[in-house]
This record gives sequence, C-alpha cells and structure tokens, in this order.
Amino acid sequence: MSQYILVIDEGTTSTRAILFSPMGEMIASAQKPLTQHYPAPGLVEHDAEEIWQHSLSCATQMVNKAGGAQHIIAIAITNQRETIIFWDRRTGKPVAPAIVWQDRRTADICATLKDAGHEKMVQEKSGLLLDPYFSGSKIGWALENWPQLKQLGENLAVGTVESYLTYRLTGGLHITDASNASRTALMSIGQNGGWDDDLLNIFNVPQHILPEISDCAGQLGHSLPDIFGGAIPICGMAGDQQAATIGQGCLAKGQTKATFGTGAFILTQSGTERPYSDNKLLSTIAWQLNGERHYALEGSVFVAGSLMQWMRDDMQIIAHAGDSEALAKSVPDNGGVFLVPALSGLGAPYWNPHARGIISGLSFAATKAHIVRAGLEAMAHQAHDLKTAYAADGCDWGELRIDGGMVSNDWMAQDLADILNIGVERPYFIETTALGAAMLAAVGANLYQNLNEAAIMRGKIHQFTPNMTEQSRQNRLDGWTKAVALAMK
Ligand code: G3P
Repeated sequence: MSQYILVIDEGTTSTRAILFSPMGEMIASAQKPLTQHYPAPGLVEHDAEEIWQHSLSCATQMVNKAGGAQHIIAIAITNQRETIIFWDRRTGKPVAPAIVWQDRRTADICATLKDAGHEKMVQEKSGLLLDPYFSGSKIGWALENWPQLKQLGENLAVGTVESYLTYRLTGGLHITDASNASRTALMSIGQNGGWDDDLLNIFNVPQHILPEISDCAGQLGHSLPDIFGGAIPICGMAGDQQAATIGQGCLAKGQTKATFGTGAFILTQSGTERPYSDNKLLSTIAWQLNGERHYALEGSVFVAGSLMQWMRDDMQIIAHAGDSEALAKSVPDNGGVFLVPALSGLGAPYWNPHARGIISGLSFAATKAHIVRAGLEAMAHQAHDLKTAYAADGCDWGELRIDGGMVSNDWMAQDLADILNIGVERPYFIETTALGAAMLAAVGANLYQNLNEAAIMRGKIHQFTPNMTEQSRQNRLDGWTKAVALAMK
C-alpha cells in the first residue's frame, strides 16, 4: 500500500496542501488563494475561518488523491508566522479578525516600549526587536481594543496559524511548536525557556490564553477521525521560514537560505547555541527536536513577491508576475531608476515602520521596463543589506541557497549572485518550505532517525555564479544606498 506525507502549507497569500512520497517526490498539490483585508493603511487582516476552510478543502483533496486516510502516514503543518488568531475554546470558531504579520497597527505601542528602554530585555530574552511585526504587541492591542475577547474570559484561546489549524484538526489540542512560538516575542528562547513573565507583562498578555510549546516533530496529535475518514497523526510543525531552512538542507552551522515569497526571509543555521546580533538581525528557533533547540540568525525583509503582485494588480504595469523577467532583460540596465519597496515599512536591518516605498531617478527615458527591472533589482539589494549585517556579526555567507516563487526567474537569480558576489544555488524543486515540513514529519513518524537522514528527500541543484564587473556592482550599490536614504526621510 502506497504511503504519503500530507503537508499543509498555509502562507500569507495562499493555502496549499501537498502530497509527498517518503523519498521527497511531490505527488500532487492543491491550492486556494487567501483573501487579503486592508481595513486602513498599515492594517492587514485575514479571516481565520477562511484559513481553516481552505486548509481543510486542500487537505481533503490530497487525502482523496492518496486513496484515503489510511494512505497518509503523517500530516505536517507549516505556516505564515507571527499572524495571530483569536478563538472560542468551546467552538473553535474565530472571534475576531486574524492580525497578519505585515500589520503595523502597533507601531506606536512598540515605539513607546522602546522609549521606555525595554528593547534590550526583549532582544536578550526573545531574540527579537520591538517591532509591530511580532505577535506580542498585536495580542496586547487586540485584548485592549476588541471587548469580545475579554468577555470570553477563560474560553479565549490565542495562537499562531499552526496552533489554530491543529486545534481545529484535533478538536481541541492547544499547542504551538517552538519555531512558531519563538516569533511571538513572548518566549524566552534559551534551551530551557518558555513563555516569559517579563515579556508577557510588557505586552499585557495573560499566559492562560496561550498554547503549550511543543517539539517540531513527533506524535504531536491526531486529526479527528471524521475529518478525513480516519485519524491521521500530526508529526511535523514549523514556521514556513524555518521549514524552508530545513528543506534547503541548511543543517550545518553557517549554511544559509533565502526564501523569496510574499516577503524575503534569510536564515543562517547557528547550531544548538543561541546566536546574538549587534546588527539588528533576529535570533530565532530553527527547530526543536527531542527538547533540544537549534537556532538561526534571521534577516526579515517585508516586501518581495508582494511587490510583483502590487505591480500586477494595483499598478497594472505587468499582466503576470512572470512577465517581469522578459521586461528586466529588455533593457541593458536600470537607466538610473531605483525602487525601494518599503510598502509596509522596512524590516531588517533598518526596522523602520514609517519608511515608505519610493521610485527614484525617473527621467523621460525611463520606461516601465526600467521600473520593473528596478523592482527586481531591489531583491538583490535588500539581500545585500542583510549580507553586510551578517558579516558585521561575524557570520558572512560563503554561498546562498535560494527558493520561493520569485526565484524561478533566472534573471533575478543571476542578479543575486552578481550583487552578492557569491555562488547562489537554486534547487530544481523550489517548494522547499513544504519539503522541509515533510522532512520534519518524516522524522516525527520515524521514517528517518534525524534531519540529516531525511535530507535524502532533497533533489538536484542549479548553480549561479557571479558575473558582473566591480564597477557596475559598485554603481548599483551606491544608487541603492541613496534611494534607501530617501525612503526613510
Ligand atoms: O514571517 C512571515 C513569513 O512567515 C511569511 O512567509 O511565505 O507567507 O511570505 P510567506
């Protein structure tokens, strides 16, 4: 009887379910776009019921494809991180909008906490910074501003996306895995740390509403038999960027991946010793297995693929995201045009929630090809800003492993190699987030002893080597630096 691993990958803009063989081959997938709600500038919300219904529908399609629940060895869940969901424990139904990681409504709360001198403690304990990106300030804001939450009393449950999906799948198990918990800014991330009183206090979050923190693999729970026509064990769980780190095989200290999805997230594997950054990078839990934590140093860029989406849907200067490659190639250079995609502020290494996007250097010679090219070039520039911060922290990259929807664009992959001036590797199978989650579930289901063994599930690699003159590179870097200064004015 064929056996498969079912991955639920609940991202920011779409929900997918993917069926893998135990050797890592993708057998089938189903996908549904997720509605984005922008109630006001800077606010981004999702409907958690839609998240659940889409996950359920895609996963059910995959279970049917497999021939029934008896063919699924394990479920893995991977997800957009930091996004926070509020629900009623009695019904599992959401009681407020989900506040999405991109949402900036708590910028002032974070600024006040920073002014009050709390950032050092936050960084020391959680590895994160005082920025609205993380869940803690969002939960505190919601408890203060949405009266229905307090009215629920002991019946209120709060969690990130994997926690909510697990609650619904299992009919009431309230857990979160350590990689997701480490993104809330409410957890002390040291080897023995958990929800931390000092962090809970500054964000005004009571601990009883939060889930229990678990490993990223093992027998984490079982789906209710009625859902898929048989109980299926949930054996893997991780935030999507941590899962991609695993799927890229960044299992040894120093190995680095960059995922260009909605945003761009770069993680360098740091081993079992927690890293510290003096250059505004984040320390985060990469995974926890058998109670032992592995860490990563992370640079989070808020806008990557979402820029192409904005150019397509709102600016309408491209018909399909894929058109950007041909447009970029159609001009010999950017013609002096630079685009800083600070559409929801700037993340690492600037952490400026008030920065706004700009296009600079326009003349009558500028065409839409130059603007689209400048948008793609911004990806390499944002990565280069992070590389500089990593180098200053003593963790420079020797090579970079890239993935995510955007990097199927060969031109952009080459531009990354050129601007970073290092070798760039792209797997033929770029769904590394789902693959990493499948690897975790395979370990959790005892198909492999550990992640190094599970790395056999990974496929072939395509290499890009730097090929740009030093002068051109320097011109690009100088132009970008000037443009970023304008975006932050
Ligand atoms: O931290 C946010 C990140 O997890 C979002 O990932 O893939 O939805 O862009 P993605």
